[in-house]
Amino acid sequence: MQSLKLTSFSPAETKVIASEIAMLLKGGEILFFEGPIGAGKTVMVKEIVKNFGIKKTPVSASFSLLKKYKGKKINLYHADLFRLEEREMFNLGFEEMLEDENAVLLVEWPEPAKNFFPKTRLEIKVTLLEGDKREITLKALGKKAENLLEVLRRNLCKR
Ligand SMILES: Nc1ncnc2c1ncn2[C@@H]1O[C@H](COP(=O)(O)OP(=O)(O)OP(=O)(O)O)[C@@H](O)[C@H]1O
Ligand SMILES: [Mg+2]
Repeated sequence: MQSLKLTSFSPAETKVIASEIAMLLKGGEILFFEGPIGAGKTVMVKEIVKNFGIKKTPVSASFSLLKKYKGKKINLYHADLFRLEEREMFNLGFEEMLEDENAVLLVEWPEPAKNFFPKTRLEIKVTLLEGDKREITLKALGKKAENLLEVLRRNLCKR
């Protein structure tokens, strides 16, 4: 299974989806968060970081492109590449982060990173519907992401 379409009716429901994803992260994963301003990308990122027992809270911060959150075993990196050009991807710290095998990388507005990052990743697209309704589409690229998505689908069905 390569993609999964979910509907969320509230921030709380989106957080449940995010924490179910967080539980499956073992290090080495790249997650892309796509969708318009105010869709809920950072809501998901915050919840994932929180699930790793990290007290610091990520923000939708365009002033800091890459932030590192040190966990016990896994380091989480949150990047917001809003309006960044592909050629500006260099020397921002991504090279070092991609060498960190225990890292989980969470990228909002990932467009400039599409060619720069490995092709194995989970792409999460949040679409705005009326009111608090959101459509969350998860797409797996590569075997590792496909396996994660399969387990996620089963876990969400059990709830
Ligand atoms: N179903 C929902 N899921 C997620 N967030 C929701 C939902 N319904 C309403 N919201 C609200 O939408 C807002 C989403 O904000 P958030 O900062 O996560 O957006 P974003 O996608 O990161 O935008 P930006 O591109 O500006 O970074 C929050 O205020 C949140 O409470
Ligand atoms: Mg954001």
